[in-house]
Amino acid sequence: MDGTTSLRVEDIVRNKNLKETHLHDILEASAIINSKLDLNHVLKQVIVHATRLTNSVAASIILKCDSSDDLVIRYATGPASNAISNVRFPTDKGIAGFCINTGQIVVVFDAKKNPHHFADIDKLSGFNTESVLCVPLCVKGKTIGCVQLLNKCDSTSFNNEDIAVATIMSNFAAVSVSNAKSYDNLQRTNFALKSQLFTTDMVTGKNSKMKKILQSINKLKDTKSNVLILGESGTGKGVIARAIHRQSSRKDNPFVTVNCSVLSPTLLESELFGHEKGAFTGADKLKVGRFEIADSGTVFLDEIGEIDKSIQTKLLRILQEKVFERVGSTKTLTTDIRIIAATNSDLEKAVEQNLFRRDLYYRLKVIVFQLPPLRERREDIPAFAQFFLERYCKELSKSARTFDKNCMSALVSYDYPGNIRELENIVERAVVLAEGDVIHISDLPDEIQYRKKAVFDRKIEAPEKTKSIYEMEKDAIYKTMLECSWNQSMAARLLGLSRDKLRYRIKKYKIEKPAED
Ligand SMILES: Nc1ncnc2c1ncn2[C@@H]1O[C@H](COP(=O)(O)OP(=O)(O)OP(=O)(O)O)[C@@H](O)[C@H]1O
Ligand SMILES: [Mg+2]
Repeated sequence: MDGTTSLRVEDIVRNKNLKETHLHDILEASAIINSKLDLNHVLKQVIVHATRLTNSVAASIILKCDSSDDLVIRYATGPASNAISNVRFPTDKGIAGFCINTGQIVVVFDAKKNPHHFADIDKLSGFNTESVLCVPLCVKGKTIGCVQLLNKCDSTSFNNEDIAVATIMSNFAAVSVSNAKSYDNLQRTNFALKSQLFTTDMVTGKNSKMKKILQSINKLKDTKSNVLILGESGTGKGVIARAIHRQSSRKDNPFVTVNCSVLSPTLLESELFGHEKGAFTGADKLKVGRFEIADSGTVFLDEIGEIDKSIQTKLLRILQEKVFERVGSTKTLTTDIRIIAATNSDLEKAVEQNLFRRDLYYRLKVIVFQLPPLRERREDIPAFAQFFLERYCKELSKSARTFDKNCMSALVSYDYPGNIRELENIVERAVVLAEGDVIHISDLPDEIQYRKKAVFDRKIEAPEKTKSIYEMEKDAIYKTMLECSWNQSMAARLLGLSRDKLRYRIKKYKIEKPAED
């Protein structure tokens, strides 16, 4: 038998193409296939049973890729299975390609004489394809792949009974792929919704350095350039990494975070790259790494400064060539990811000390965002404080709505060694302690109340004999304006003046903003 045909389950039943013994086997297979929801389990069982029941030497499930026009060999059995698993090839190639494009069952007795035969795969695997049976795999009337059986063990051609078995197996796989796709879509929608939530869930602020960074993020959206985010702890590196992903054309695909400082080098390696079953003691299952999971999306490597040198080399390869191997495997896999890395350590120093590879450092720092500490963006403190106030009031079912004047000026003048995270904790604590609608300075931790006093003390420092009272006032205004990044409202609050009075004095003393470098 040779050629294309079409057959539906009804035809199989009507034409009694199945022997009774086969019916029993298929029933048994269906029970095993249905024993788990996991797609990999189903595809594997489908192929293993199809191979056995049709008495074939090898088989594979080939699916259309979601992210490209290619076909991918999703699961394979037989002597060359390792070499061809996950191999991609163009849709218009091969008997499988023909089957998928036309939606027809294809039976071929001698592959080499068939015009659609794609010899490159045989060359790659060393397998010698002879007879072929390809059955389309359809979900809701659309062909999304095929089940392919190769070489009948007895060198005959595939018959109607094999077609019937392969069709049933293909239907099993189709249900599972369809479920997995729905689940995947659900997850992606979930990701997208979470990202949207984040847009309204982030303070953008007025600070000029931050504004520049946010503008650059917008320009980065269609590029794949790697980004390195630097900044002290708590300055919002994680938040900015998410914002970059959310505003990019990859936003509907996964955003995967890996904290490089919490895992040992061995665990981190298999977390990033995955491992084969049995790759090391304890590797009892195949593990898909984060780089694979994040295909078409973004990987955020947090605390990159902590990464071990042995992994730096593998990381460099994925950055340069977009390829990697799972631990314990020699098969090279590809992935399409954007990498965002962040650290609060001095990478340049680490390079000097030979702790961080120089070539990796240069690969990572294609685009660098240096986030300012909160004490250098005091003008944004009121917006952050109000944002956290609303967040924690909602979360803790409290009623506080505002900060009183004294309290806000204390918040603005504090130095925040822990940056935005520290401000967030301070506001959360205040919300818990506050009684009523207004947060008072007494709801803040001692060190801030004390610091507030110091700010006022500064104004009554012992006068320098050589300075007149006007000069002292001019100095105080100039220093406060500098400290507040030229934000008049904030400076007025700190100085205990109204905005009008401050403006009047700025004019009177001809105080000018220094030119930016
Ligand atoms: N722009 C922002 N809007 C709202 N919240 C923010 C913003 N930036 C930071 N935060 C909040 O501040 C806290 C610290 O932010 P994040 O974890 O991103 O900082 P980080 O620089 O990654 O810190 P670390 O170096 O310690 O990991 C988080 O709770 C985060 O939600
Ligand atoms: Mg972080």
